[in-house]
Amino acid sequence: MRRFAGQVVVVTGSATGIGAATALRFATEGANVACLDINEADNDATAAAARSEGVEALGLRCDVRSRDDQQDAFDRVMGAWGRIDVLVACAGVYVGGPLAEIPLERWDDIVAVNLTGVLISNSLAAPIMTAQRRGSIINIASMAAKTSWPYSAEYSGTKSGVVGVTRSAAMELGPHGVTVNAVCAGNTVTDMVRKVAAEVGATVDMTAEEWLDMRADDTALKRLARPEEIAGVVAFLASDDARYLTGQAIEVDGGLVLS
Ligand SMILES: NC(=O)c1ccc[n+]([C@@H]2O[C@H](COP(=O)([O-])OP(=O)(O)OC[C@H]3O[C@@H](n4cnc5c(N)ncnc54)[C@H](O)[C@@H]3O)[C@@H](O)[C@H]2O)c1
Repeated sequence: MRRFAGQVVVVTGSATGIGAATALRFATEGANVACLDINEADNDATAAAARSEGVEALGLRCDVRSRDDQQDAFDRVMGAWGRIDVLVACAGVYVGGPLAEIPLERWDDIVAVNLTGVLISNSLAAPIMTAQRRGSIINIASMAAKTSWPYSAEYSGTKSGVVGVTRSAAMELGPHGVTVNAVCAGNTVTDMVRKVAAEVGATVDMTAEEWLDMRADDTALKRLARPEEIAGVVAFLASDDARYLTGQAIEVDGGLVLS
């Protein structure tokens, strides 16, 4: 399928994990992709892999915490291709710990990446897509916005905020033909989850593998997601089949909340 032939897709957090899989999914379906990340080496590799699918791709160094960085990146994309059909705001970080031990600097930083970063990219995409009278914004939230766990106030707080931004943006941009949705991913095997497994596992005397097995057992499907499975849902949300779908926070969690 080449559902996005000729379209332009911007992905933040595209160097690794879900963002990289998403950029590649759009490239295999014919879109030109702009990859925005602070991890330049891996991000350049994502852009190169996208180009090997026969599309154009830009690897752009961008810290999503910085409005100037994001503005520069969006300007580069508009200079190269003159439009943005899809924005996937995926850049994110995880930190966790007991409430009483959360340094405010750490809170400020996770808010800056996970929430302010998403707000900035949505606000830069909005006038472009509104002028086109068409566009799709997909913000990567988390099941941490729908349910939660101890020691995750920072992460849950920011991901719940992403869902709020998504819903309001959907109401604001809907009259202009722009859909805005969030994807609440369950545990997906990426660098982030491996790091969490090692850190949180150690606090309960489990190896990372044992902790991940326990998380898999929490789901109806009894396994964790692959990044490509989240990317497939993102691509659906950007496709013509989802033009009447907006303001939703879709649970892609293998049945986590059923178990
Ligand atoms: N892996 C999971 O289980 C899971 C579950 C739910 C939601 N998510 C969300 O999915 C998104 C992708 O995470 P992932 O699991 O693929 O992890 P990941 O660590 O592989 O990817 C995160 C990406 O964001 C980039 N990034 C971090 N800070 C940045 C900044 N300031 N500016 C620009 N880029 C920055 C990283 O360099 C990396 O490429 C995140 O928003 C995460 O919260 C992940």
